Amino acid sequence: MGEIRIENHFNAQHFIVKQIQSISDKVQNGYAINALSGGVDSSVVTMLGHRALENKLKTYFIDNGLMRQDEPEKIASMFNDLGVKVEIIDAKEKFFNALKGLTDPEEKREAVTQTFYKDVFGKLVRESGAKYLLQGTILTDVDETVAGVKRQHNVFEQLGIDTQKEFGYKILEPLVQLRKDSVRKVGKELGLPEFLYDRPPFPGPALATRVIGEVTPEKVETVRRATSILEHELKDINAFQYLAILHNDRVTGMRGGKRDYGLQIELRCWDSVDARTATPTDLPYQTKDNLAKRITSEVPGVVSVTYNITSKPTSTIEAI
Ligand code: XMP
Repeated sequence: MGEIRIENHFNAQHFIVKQIQSISDKVQNGYAINALSGGVDSSVVTMLGHRALENKLKTYFIDNGLMRQDEPEKIASMFNDLGVKVEIIDAKEKFFNALKGLTDPEEKREAVTQTFYKDVFGKLVRESGAKYLLQGTILTDVDETVAGVKRQHNVFEQLGIDTQKEFGYKILEPLVQLRKDSVRKVGKELGLPEFLYDRPPFPGPALATRVIGEVTPEKVETVRRATSILEHELKDINAFQYLAILHNDRVTGMRGGKRDYGLQIELRCWDSVDARTATPTDLPYQTKDNLAKRITSEVPGVVSVTYNITSKPTSTIEAI
């Protein structure tokens, strides 16, 4: 598959014109739907789809219970301000039921994928009569899935999966030839606010990729609180991505002079251009110390905070 960008000469304006044409040609007089998660890729696709299809596109925000603090309402409101109506679908119970008892990373990813595409979107497509799902798969997602590194939630055709047969609709992927740096340029050119086109990447399966072991609402809440602190403390650091991970095993800590067998949070902060390779950001000691103090005092049950010092490879960016 040829990548449209030629390193620094990627022309976002040209790309937008071509993709708008291609989306309208495919959808014609039909309807399409898309899922906005508030990540860079889905935000860019939502805007591109809106430009191409206007009221022939219906945009949903699937609240899978795995999102960051207040994310569904915040993102829906930002898009409303941009003239794009977003309907929030509460699917929390479905996702947590599907994840119940699963500990294997790839099984957890598959459970999120099936719940999203077959269950939640299958139903929305049937109800709306849409023929197409527009989504923000990018080249890095495809690379890693095809290479067998991890099964990204949004890759099908490249694995020989016929989505029409499997889920009852076709998937359009206007960003599939781009990497993150080019996607950001498209977002800027489309007039998205900087908050949306320049925010750190956030994976489709969301905080489920940051809980080691079984994903439960309680564990997600722990990682969500640590994430809020981390995102607040590192917002000006200019790193590619930063994340908090909840480990499955406990460690002996102490609180008030007594033993406290508590939770462990691992922090990762990455320097990278396109997520294919990445190195840990050399954070100032004071920043790390501050993060450890805030997380152990503000997130219930956490007694230990560690910082990952491994590059990708051998690490990957997310833990799952
Ligand atoms: P990894 O963990 O494979 O991540 O080094 C590379 C980049 O991809 C993001 N990521 C995902 N994005 N669906 C997505 O849309 C997924 O299933 C998924 N898994 C990882 C990750 O956050 C990083 O930016």
